[in-house]
Amino acid sequence: MKYSELHTPLRTIMTPGPVEVDPRVLRAMSTPILGQFDPAFTHIMNEVMEMLRQLFQTNNRWAFPVDGTSRSGNEAVLCSIIEPGDCVLVPIFGRFGHLFVEICERYGADVHTMECSWGEVFEPEEVIAEIKKVSPKIVALVHGETSTGCMQPLKEIGQACRELDVLLVVDAVASIGGTDIKVDEWCIDAIIGGTQKCLSVPSGMAPITYNDRIEKILSERKKVERGIATAEDLRQVRKGIPIKSNYFDLSMLQDYWGPRRLNHHTEATSMLYALREGLRLVLEEGLEERFERHVFHEAALVAGLEAMGLTLFGNRKHKLTCVTCIEIPSGIDGESVRSMLLNQFGIEIASSFGPLQGKIWRIGTMGYSCRKENVLFVLGALEAVLLRHGFEVKRGEALQAALDVYMAEVKEPVKEE
Ligand SMILES: Cc1ncc(COP(=O)(O)O)c(C=O)c1O
Repeated sequence: MKYSELHTPLRTIMTPGPVEVDPRVLRAMSTPILGQFDPAFTHIMNEVMEMLRQLFQTNNRWAFPVDGTSRSGNEAVLCSIIEPGDCVLVPIFGRFGHLFVEICERYGADVHTMECSWGEVFEPEEVIAEIKKVSPKIVALVHGETSTGCMQPLKEIGQACRELDVLLVVDAVASIGGTDIKVDEWCIDAIIGGTQKCLSVPSGMAPITYNDRIEKILSERKKVERGIATAEDLRQVRKGIPIKSNYFDLSMLQDYWGPRRLNHHTEATSMLYALREGLRLVLEEGLEERFERHVFHEAALVAGLEAMGLTLFGNRKHKLTCVTCIEIPSGIDGESVRSMLLNQFGIEIASSFGPLQGKIWRIGTMGYSCRKENVLFVLGALEAVLLRHGFEVKRGEALQAALDVYMAEVKEPVKEE
């Protein structure tokens, strides 16, 4: 046989995604396939919807995954609500704001942008002032910007959007499952999560949720495919322009995930099993506990990196807990460090994009990869590799600083007599 059995090297993945997948998720993926209308399968679909509502902290009726990588969720939401000429405001603070612009333009939106330097986020008032100036139909905003390791505060912007009758669409691909996101409380109209990051499920699905303000637009643009439409469906005249994409038409996806179970695509069975198990793991751990775990390991990682003599990149006040960006010291070849980490230690960390290409490294502490042994391993290995590259590391300090965090005694509250 020309091709050997599939054998991949074992890696410690400390990038901002894809990250290591929990073994329970991998096991769930080998569960036998069910037909997509088998009640045993539609029951699983309903369970996933229920668990997604808990993850997104919402009472929205609609919460389901779009089949495709995370950007498929961004595209499904935007193409389903943008009609040509609609004004969309996109505040950009990294690569994925640009992705929003790209998608909106392709669907004929009149896109307004505002940009701050990478490594910063917007003051909510700045965004609110811009909303008042351009009166958009939609604001599309990234929550956790993976390219810069920054997190945009959303609550005030959400409230302002609701008061001004503007729709708020949020990309929480990097942050969902790793940090607190209160969809209803923060007045987010539609939000997209990612599987391959803090949920620790493989890439290939984009969980989304949206409220009745979005659903109203969908119902005005609703279409049923001719080959499966009833006479009643064909008689319906809608006032909105039909959604340009068939695959990403949320009005059709809704009919598939809803009680009508109207066939759209063939559901990605094994991925749904994976997502179900990933969500079960999140809920078992508890949202608060999971967010605290991400903060705890971030603290150990940051302590170690700084003790080593490295400088973090970006505004610390708005740091994304699950992504830590580090300035590549001058004179050090960042790519050579990354490849030595991979080749000698089997550890993967990431570089960045655009203006930050070659300037920073990014270390992810996401989901199943966010563990003590991974943090200690990456710190030890990075120290060794930097020494080999001639960087003046403060020898031995990194692991001691991280261990200080890990071994700090939990102080018992002093009892009052
Ligand atoms: C914040 C953010 N949005 C969108 C995407 C696109 O996701 P995907 O590559 O899964 O399509 C990514 C991927 O890294 C991301 O980090």
